[in-house]
Amino acid sequence: MSRKNLNIGLFGFGCVGYGLYEVLEKTPGLKANIRNICVKDKNKTREIGAENFTYDKNDILNDEDINVVVELIDDADAAFEIVVAALKKGKAVVSANKKMIAEHFTELLELQREYNVPLLYEAACCASMPIIRNLEEYYDNDLLESIEGIVNGSTNYILTKTFAENLSYDAALKQAQDNGYAESNPILDTGGFDAKYKLLILLAHSFGYIANPNDIYNIGIDNIGKLELKYAREKGLKIKLVAQAFKTPQGTLSAFVIPKFVGSDDRLFTVDDVFNGVLTKTSFADTHFFVGRGAGAHPTASAVLSDISALSYDYRYEY
Ligand code: HSE
Repeated sequence: MSRKNLNIGLFGFGCVGYGLYEVLEKTPGLKANIRNICVKDKNKTREIGAENFTYDKNDILNDEDINVVVELIDDADAAFEIVVAALKKGKAVVSANKKMIAEHFTELLELQREYNVPLLYEAACCASMPIIRNLEEYYDNDLLESIEGIVNGSTNYILTKTFAENLSYDAALKQAQDNGYAESNPILDTGGFDAKYKLLILLAHSFGYIANPNDIYNIGIDNIGKLELKYAREKGLKIKLVAQAFKTPQGTLSAFVIPKFVGSDDRLFTVDDVFNGVLTKTSFADTHFFVGRGAGAHPTASAVLSDISALSYDYRYEY
């Protein structure tokens, strides 16, 4: 298969952006090079020289040689502006911004159709676990009945550390932040919002259902107290933040994010630390279980790399 040469304009050079830079350096087979990197803060010391950076987004958006925009910034509103502008200019886009995607799903779908350009976002959902690609391709005909999983790495890390190692909640959250797992506003993780955005993306690719974030109920881990932890320990259970979607007997869809007690007979019981795990139940295959690192620089960059690679052979989601 012949592959396109890709010239990348990268937005954001934080944990994942730098991770992508490192990962691409170690992937010589892929004909993809970073042409320009747009960052916000002029005064920040960076791992590579200043000549690689621009502070003006138009230097990338107006560069006709750049055919792929990789958006890895934190601010969902600013990310949306960049992604819209890039798609309108006919540039393929890779994004890891689940909040931005979940909040603008319908508009992003329309833009992809109108301008006939792909937007890929494997890294936005469960980081390194290739769940979107599997939902898109494998389950094309074997229909899904339910999808359930641990889709937020930070909260799983916090729950694992507080439960198994008796670490305080604050200390576990601090470790999740220091390891580069948490969102810059960690309430998005601990309140179950990040998991909800990911569930919304999963819903679109598993059931073809586009939800509004306000329509999906989410409870986070903030209110889990000593009593719940004591109960779980006594009963040999663990507490997991689970995102779930299933078809009801009436044929409607039910979807929510909620902390649950899980027993050792549940596959999710084995998913600890920063790992994510997703169980699919299908009409013919029975169940599948996906597991992988759910956050962190290189695992997330791996998913971005996979999207970049897919763009080199013109892959796009069919939805
Ligand atoms: N904050 C997210 C998490 C990062 O902990 O899962 C990966 O999406």
